[in-house]
Amino acid sequence: MNHKQLAQKAMEAKKNALPPYSNFHVGSALLTKAGKVYLGGNIETPSYSLTVCAERTAIFKAITEGEREFTAIAIASDSPDYCPPCGACRQVIKDLCGDIDVVMINGKKEIKVFKISELLPFAFGDEDLKK
Ligand code: THU
Repeated sequence: MNHKQLAQKAMEAKKNALPPYSNFHVGSALLTKAGKVYLGGNIETPSYSLTVCAERTAIFKAITEGEREFTAIAIASDSPDYCPPCGACRQVIKDLCGDIDVVMINGKKEIKVFKISELLPFAFGDEDLKK
């Protein structure tokens, strides 16, 4: 699956997002090394601060299904612009997925791709715990 196809899956994942407070629907699609795709949407509850972003939903689903190796994660919203991952999700992507590609898609269906190491330089990680 290429980046554009993965981004399309992220678009589709938006339909099961549950953001009744912000009304900002986000979808995410996480690609494993073996080619399987896990979808996620953002979930908001009346305790606003317990919100979980679409990216973390997809990652936690995949991890709890036993997946450990990933190649890319795509993120889509209804905004005409790209939807960059929040800081918390950047850390979780780095920690649980490794240096994968982060694919963003805008309203014109154009994509932008970064490595997570570009989006989160000089990050804290597993290696720092061993020093
Ligand atoms: N959100 C995501 O799901 N992913 C992002 O990359 C950015 C923000 C969600 C969290 C919240 O439900 C809504 O978008 C508005 O911040």
